[in-house]
Amino acid sequence: MEIEEVRDHMFLPLPGVPPILIARTEGVYLYDSSGARILDASGGPMAVTIGLGRREVAEAARKAVEEVSYVLPVFATEARIELTKRIKKRLPAELDEVYFCSGGSEANEAAVKFARQYHVLAGRESRFKILSRKLSYHGMTLLTLSMGDVKMRRRDFLPMLWKVPRVEAHYCYRCPYGKDYPGCDIDCALDLEKKILEEGPETVAAFIAEPIVASAGGGLVPPPEYFPIIRETCDKYDVLLIVDEVVTGFGRTGTNMGMDHFGVVPDIATFAKGASSAYAPLAGMAVRGSLTELFKEKEAEFQHLYTFSAHPLSCAVANEVQRILEAEGLIARAAEMGECLGRKLLELEELPMVGDIRGKGLLRSIEFVQDKGTKEPFPKSENLKMNIITTCLLKGVFFYPGYWEDDRGRGDHIMIAPPFIITEEQIDECVGVLRETLEELQAGYSAG
Ligand SMILES: Cc1ncc(COP(=O)(O)O)c(C=O)c1O
Repeated sequence: MEIEEVRDHMFLPLPGVPPILIARTEGVYLYDSSGARILDASGGPMAVTIGLGRREVAEAARKAVEEVSYVLPVFATEARIELTKRIKKRLPAELDEVYFCSGGSEANEAAVKFARQYHVLAGRESRFKILSRKLSYHGMTLLTLSMGDVKMRRRDFLPMLWKVPRVEAHYCYRCPYGKDYPGCDIDCALDLEKKILEEGPETVAAFIAEPIVASAGGGLVPPPEYFPIIRETCDKYDVLLIVDEVVTGFGRTGTNMGMDHFGVVPDIATFAKGASSAYAPLAGMAVRGSLTELFKEKEAEFQHLYTFSAHPLSCAVANEVQRILEAEGLIARAAEMGECLGRKLLELEELPMVGDIRGKGLLRSIEFVQDKGTKEPFPKSENLKMNIITTCLLKGVFFYPGYWEDDRGRGDHIMIAPPFIITEEQIDECVGVLRETLEELQAGYSAG
């Protein structure tokens, strides 16, 4: 197939990025139609964990289609039961009811609707508001866009979005309070109580946040005190705590779930990407059994059923992915390779445009600035992050863009989140290509 034909038949390819026809994938590599390979240093959108193109998964998919190609999600399938058991092993024991859908946005919608329905059943009908956090992303549907804070994704839809009050983010590099951790009072966490009181606690159903922020902020890791304060505040006002583990779930940050770093159990955890290592559309939420009890007591149905919820093919594929993750000890590997990646990225700190390097495990990010002292971002017209990404792509390594921008539309960071099977040599290749690219771009700026 010619590239022109690809362009004609793709709906809205990324402007400025030449469409590349990917013919095959294997391990950490994408192969184009000429056989040239690209190292996928972000696992697609921080999604691929066990590596690409694995035969065992293909075999599980074939078997699933032959055995049970489809059933309405009110029926059980063996793959769904097995998958539920495997997923529960990765979650805190309290989150013992698992619901499946197809993508992260759907999972977050499900969580919010569950929270609302729970309060209605509990006789608290006045609770309908969801609070979220600045610098977050929860999906592309109108409700999840309303909760999220990625300006470029929201801009054209603003009149259609709900008003969702947002608390300050734990963005320590640019602290919204102008303070430095550990000298601060974790004011960003205390902001939740302020917002709940402003809105009226009797109106607030839930607070949603990512354990470690992915592309909306670029690997923002909260201080250890953050989530314990959030949990206490939610408990004080009967507000459900929803954590969006769409990126962090199933090992990305070196632990089963992102929240494991903070010793706090949420009321609902949503998941997607890593659940199936992006082999099939599979997402969901895990809910505290103490909350679903109320539905059982009142014989109430959770009003959120999709044709493709718990699809037998997706469940079988995800079940095999989870089996591989466990059998090959890949979460421990994510922790080990994550340390390695973190160490090697720190070697780039000396470069003039590298402002901040952050993240955890295999969820890392670099923020670029034109002045390290003032942290002044590059002008928007430079389109720096996309320049970095396309230049690296032409050199055979793919990184994912981050979306933080200031009120002048400036802000550049990239995500580095490779599959857990990446080797140290492949990490060296990624970091080497990135260094070379940054040095070339810097030389261009220095030459004026
Ligand atoms: C933290 C987070 N939540 C939710 C989503 C939405 O997931 P999906 O694209 O599967 O709808 C994403 C996607 O990147 C994400 O990063």
